[in-house]
Amino acid sequence: MKISDRASKIKFSAIRKLTPYAQEAVKNGKKVYHLNIGAPDIEVPETFFEAIDNFKGRVLKYPAAAGIEELRKNWAAYYKRRNLNFEANEIYITSGASEALLFVLMTIADEGDEIITTNPFYSNYKTYFDQLNLTMNAFDTSPKNGFALPSTEEIEKVISEKSVAFLISNPTNPTGAVYSREELERLKALAIKHNMYIITDEVYREFVYDGLEYTSFAEIEGIEDRLILLDSISKRYGACGARIGAIVTKNQDILTSINKLVTGRLAAPTLEQVGAAALFTSDESYFKEVNDEYLKRRNTIYEELKKIDGVEVYNPKGAFYIMPTLPVDDTEDFAKWLLTDFDLDGETLMMAPADGFFYNSDEGKNKVRLAFVLNVDDLKKSMAILREGLKKYKER
Ligand SMILES: Cc1ncc(COP(=O)(O)O)c(C=O)c1O
Repeated sequence: MKISDRASKIKFSAIRKLTPYAQEAVKNGKKVYHLNIGAPDIEVPETFFEAIDNFKGRVLKYPAAAGIEELRKNWAAYYKRRNLNFEANEIYITSGASEALLFVLMTIADEGDEIITTNPFYSNYKTYFDQLNLTMNAFDTSPKNGFALPSTEEIEKVISEKSVAFLISNPTNPTGAVYSREELERLKALAIKHNMYIITDEVYREFVYDGLEYTSFAEIEGIEDRLILLDSISKRYGACGARIGAIVTKNQDILTSINKLVTGRLAAPTLEQVGAAALFTSDESYFKEVNDEYLKRRNTIYEELKKIDGVEVYNPKGAFYIMPTLPVDDTEDFAKWLLTDFDLDGETLMMAPADGFFYNSDEGKNKVRLAFVLNVDDLKKSMAILREGLKKYKER
């Protein structure tokens, strides 16, 4: 029986591709440090579980398709605390930023339309483009300047008649870049010139280091009608498993369409929305604590990588990812070998080979993406494994 071309052409997630080898390593008694996936190990604030414990109803009807009122209201209040001017009725609740992106793409693009993103990009973006038969193009960013946005001319080269939107993640998965106001203004000017939407994926908004001031695209004036914000509690509150995200926009035509799509899938889960509504009332000091911990991790991984012979690395400014260049030709083979053929005192490491984060480019072949979501001690052990692994791999 048939499997659609659409499903057939989707590549398996770059982040989980090596999972069977990691499972085999564990079966063989090895401990595996997972730096391949950005699933935070930090506890979700207690308010989430308290709110669910206090849920009195015993009947779980479908909640409102757009999301429960309390969550939309509290999310809007969170934006206001950051000087982002969104009302509850401009926020639609989805199953994570992932479903948010799917509905946004369905709304703004037809088959064959093109979305422009960065190279490298968050690899799941391509999964959604393929699901909807959208084409993609990407402008290159480089580790030489911490993966900053390139010049207007460079970006403009990849725009075509078919381009309907820019899609950027800021702070960025997979590089940890944080874009300045000036960089955002550059995209704004191009979006206006070419009549494109801007989809800004800001799920890592709170993860910014070195006292850098974060500028949300929603602070930039003059693009209210073309700006669509994707958001989520997955990273902000370490609540990936709750699957709660949002589409946020002032564009009423988009909201009308989104309303049809969310109604078509009936609703997002009730209890997780109840918990999420409480999360947005958490004390802001939570972010400072979490940020301090991630800053230590960022410093550790950056310093440890710098010490390894032949590794090229930059200092990421946000999110919890770093994309070093390793002294090997094929990081997929090396990452697999670490799981199948190597251990340091019974321990090894799982990394995401970077090839799957690049479009039409071999730039990722000698890079890996590491998520610094483990504590400082485990990160140090992981980097020792990487250092020894690189030595042994070369000697084979
Ligand atoms: C840039 C970016 N956007 C979206 C997501 C998915 O978020 P969610 O868990 O809310 O679906 C991720 C997850 O890693 C991500 O890195």
